[in-house]
Amino acid sequence: MKDDDKSPASESSKKTIFDFTPEMSVGNEIIDADHRAFFQISKLLSETLESGERGMVVLSSLSILEEYVDGHFLREEKAMRKVDYTNFAEHRLKHNQFRARVKAIADVFRQGTISAADDLPPLVIQWLRSHIANEDQKYKRWLTHSAVDNRPLVFLAIEAEHDN
Ligand SMILES: [Fe+2]
Ligand SMILES: [Fe+2]
Repeated sequence: MKDDDKSPASESSKKTIFDFTPEMSVGNEIIDADHRAFFQISKLLSETLESGERGMVVLSSLSILEEYVDGHFLREEKAMRKVDYTNFAEHRLKHNQFRARVKAIADVFRQGTISAADDLPPLVIQWLRSHIANEDQKYKRWLTHSAVDNRPLVFLAIEAEHDN
């Protein structure tokens, strides 16, 4: 069984899903770094759950994921506002809907339904890939380097917590 899990095919298909590829770049290193980290967190959560772990490590991964959702979305939203991006409201609504889904699943897990966490890695990675390709790419040509808040994400996550 273990050998099957480590077959080259399953390794490479996993890599494809969780890999950040150059065409996903929005032309800003800070936002790209956020996106890369998002992929890594999704991968970490997926691997943690696959290992059978359902305790503290999952709880910590969920907290990191929620922190990234809050911090990264605020980083993008502040930048979009600064450059008067025309689709700002629509983009923000998509962030809010996704944030609500992640928080709802995480809350169900924290309330004791441990199987709820299994829904997160596929939701997060599919949403992320689609959102970067279809939504984040649209602000690419509007974005300027100075519009992007370059503080570490944790500061933005704290700011987002006060905003929401
Ligand atoms: Fe993004
Ligand atoms: Fe976005």
